[in-house]
Amino acid sequence: MNTRKLLITGGAGFIGSNFVHYILENYSNIDVVVLDKLTYAGNLNNLDRWKTDSRFQFLKVDIADKQALSTTCKDLEFTEIVHFAAESHVDRSILGPEEFVKTNVMGTFFLLEIARERHQQSKLNRFLHVSTDEVYGTLGKEGFFTESTSYAPNSPYSASKAGSDHLVRSYFHTYGLPTITTNCSNNYGPFHFPEKLIPLIILNCIQRKPLPVYGKGNNIRDWLYVKDHCSAIFTALEKGKLGETYVIGTRNEKTNLEIVYKICELMDQKHPEGAPHKDLIQFVKDRAGHDFRYAIDPTKIESELGWKPKYNFENAIEETVDWFLENQSWWKDILSGEYKNYYEKVYQELK
Ligand code: NAD
Ligand code: DAU
Repeated sequence: MNTRKLLITGGAGFIGSNFVHYILENYSNIDVVVLDKLTYAGNLNNLDRWKTDSRFQFLKVDIADKQALSTTCKDLEFTEIVHFAAESHVDRSILGPEEFVKTNVMGTFFLLEIARERHQQSKLNRFLHVSTDEVYGTLGKEGFFTESTSYAPNSPYSASKAGSDHLVRSYFHTYGLPTITTNCSNNYGPFHFPEKLIPLIILNCIQRKPLPVYGKGNNIRDWLYVKDHCSAIFTALEKGKLGETYVIGTRNEKTNLEIVYKICELMDQKHPEGAPHKDLIQFVKDRAGHDFRYAIDPTKIESELGWKPKYNFENAIEETVDWFLENQSWWKDILSGEYKNYYEKVYQELK
């Protein structure tokens, strides 16, 4: 058993599970305990390879259930918290905001209370809160989000994340909790849940289903490879200044249509049966309140903490497409059964 143990909430989700892999692969002196409710987006298969590793532990718990969270954490020895758990899909927050407020606001609050108690007992060194650039609202054609951009969330999802960011900030100022907040742009990579844009387009190409593009496809996102995000989070955890926030991105802006065309091009090479895949594109109703552009200026984490990304978009998007082609049982499992029925109902309402 190591003396250093990270409590990772939401570690069975997309970014959280990549972070668990990143830690356990690279740092033999760190143990990990994952707390996760296993919602539709949580998947124990993401963590399968560690299930017999003595440095890894998994506990199923809802962070929005104060009693259950407190009972679960009571006998756990952890030295740091990395908080990923959240309801994370903007479209779902438009259809049903309540879970977002419960998990993202109340869940974060209950976790902060646990952290505060631990810190008072000198048992907690860091609380790293993983948040999003969506809290800053939308950009026009010019400019970038930085740590000093004003908050202006536009969806129930981003408003709930903004609420959680403010709570974290207040626990630093009021109680001296050793917090660090990171706000990153759109991630992509292995284990990305199939209803987000990049995996959805890859999987619909494989299945010869329509490729839904909201509005005209002109909205811009700043795509960050999840493995670069994991190294940035770890850098912030190790070297970040307490009470500070760090925005994370890799200067990789693309319109949604550019992303969809790029995936179609890769699929034409790697899965020629359905070529040309771009014929599957369908322009559909726009998202309500759809933010036009997100773009990050990561100068602070680069210059103050020395973080540098390792991947470039061309290689990482290809690696991502390959991962989905090589891991068909992973996504087929998700797209079958209960989830399939739910997913089809949700998407009828959206489109
Ligand atoms: P995800 O939806 O893939 O995973 C979320 C995880 O949290 C799942 O394992 C789920 O089971 C768990 N969870 C949800 N509600 C819970 C609850 N009440 N109690 C315990 N566990 C619960 O999300 P993701 O894309 O991996 O995002 C992780 C974090 O990063 C989130 O906080 C999100 O806001 C933030 N973020 C994500 C992106 C992105 O592009 N995906 C970008 C910026 C920030
Ligand atoms: O910016 C960070 C955020 O990125 C995170 O905080 C969120 O958790 C994460 O889900 C992501 O939010 P987006 O709404 O930007 O991601 P999504 O993959 O849902 O959509 C990306 C863009 O693609 C967005 O402009 C909407 C568009 N889109 C999405 C889907 C699912 C489509 O055109 N068609 C689709 O079917």
